[in-house]
Amino acid sequence: MSSKPYLSGHYTPAVDETSATDLTVEGLLPPELTGRLIRNSHNPKAGVTPSHWFKGSGMVHGIRLRDGRAEWYRNRWVRTPALEGAPYMTERGPDLTASSAGTHVIEHAGKLLALCESNFPFELTPDLDTVGAYDFTGKLRTVMTAHPKTDPATGELHFFGSSPFPPFLTYHVANPKGEIEYSVDIPDATPSLKHDFAITRNHVVFVEGNVTFDPSEHSGIPYAWSDEQLSRIGIMPRGRHGAAHIRWYSIEPGNMLHATNAYEDAQGRIVLEGPTVDREGFRLSWNWWTGAPDRGTEPNTRSYTRRWIVDTATGQVDEQIIDDLAVEFPTLNDDFLGAENRYSYAVSFPDQKGFGGYGIVKYDRTTGARRIHQVGDARLPSEAVFVPAAGATNEDDGYLLTVISDLKQDASKLLVLDASGLEQLAAVHLPRRVTGGIHGSWIPDTALDLSEES
Ligand SMILES: [Fe+2]
Repeated sequence: MSSKPYLSGHYTPAVDETSATDLTVEGLLPPELTGRLIRNSHNPKAGVTPSHWFKGSGMVHGIRLRDGRAEWYRNRWVRTPALEGAPYMTERGPDLTASSAGTHVIEHAGKLLALCESNFPFELTPDLDTVGAYDFTGKLRTVMTAHPKTDPATGELHFFGSSPFPPFLTYHVANPKGEIEYSVDIPDATPSLKHDFAITRNHVVFVEGNVTFDPSEHSGIPYAWSDEQLSRIGIMPRGRHGAAHIRWYSIEPGNMLHATNAYEDAQGRIVLEGPTVDREGFRLSWNWWTGAPDRGTEPNTRSYTRRWIVDTATGQVDEQIIDDLAVEFPTLNDDFLGAENRYSYAVSFPDQKGFGGYGIVKYDRTTGARRIHQVGDARLPSEAVFVPAAGATNEDDGYLLTVISDLKQDASKLLVLDASGLEQLAAVHLPRRVTGGIHGSWIPDTALDLSEES
């Protein structure tokens, strides 16, 4: 077993690609779940030891559900030049196609894109084969975040490229047809690491934390915590001319990895929430990600949800840690992205003192209630992807899909939970243990052109 935490235990890479059909299902799979759950992970080839978890080559795991059946499971590497050893840095600068493509998978304009924030996306087929690097017909000239946002009201894809070098931050909007409408450099941005961001109905919200470009960091990803780097939130109006009006608001030191959601409240203030680490939390996470000593037992043992309320009229920011569970991978009903959401979901992890445990958490922001679906010992759940029910009338009418890595059984199941009460509705037995990993999406059949599907 590797001494690297990201190559052992739940995170032990798969050594090959497999396909299986007619998977065993416990319980009843809702027939309306007709589509694919596709989840990404860092999965270097056998014999390859990346210097950082995030440098491991991307492998996607797909589970195809249709009409109450689980038709297939497949796992495939994303075939990028980096998988074959191509270097990121070349004599002509970074090769944006030399990607791990191992962070996320999304769908936009009928295309499946595997994402990693320091590169171009990689397009996949519905069967998880790799088409190639995708640059929006030449219009994308920067890297692309792994956390683009689809505006549920307009169908636009909002995203950014963040770089250690000027202009540091570029904001892009693609229309529902997949065409980039505009790209705008953001003034006064810094090389602070920006993994995620948020949109509201009227604004774009960037977060610059204390983790910033540091060429002396030799783990393979040149970022480190800096007390000198100011933490701040940047808010600008949406639209191609919004960047000129961006304003920055100082916040407490920290590093927000993921935004749960943001919205304008009734008073017009911007509310943003997301799991965030402080200096010590970042140190423990980074040491886990790089395999350095003195690390957390998991990457997220000190990641607590913060809420910022920014009053853009007065410039005041109210900031609070709003929960005592260590959580990451926040999700919500994406129909509420950018609007006030009542519910959100996350994966909980045991903290440094053993408080909490591996589970799927549901938060009710109206009542303050927190409910946890514990998954049991030696079981690691992946990000809980929310799928709305057909004809849903409530925000939480729908399903949560999570893939469990079970070390004791050396096996995995896809769990389908009722998002309302977190009860298990069905479990799909997968033919192998799925490596613990990062983000994924539910891709309904209606989003894809499946005319060539068998
Ligand atoms: Fe992420």
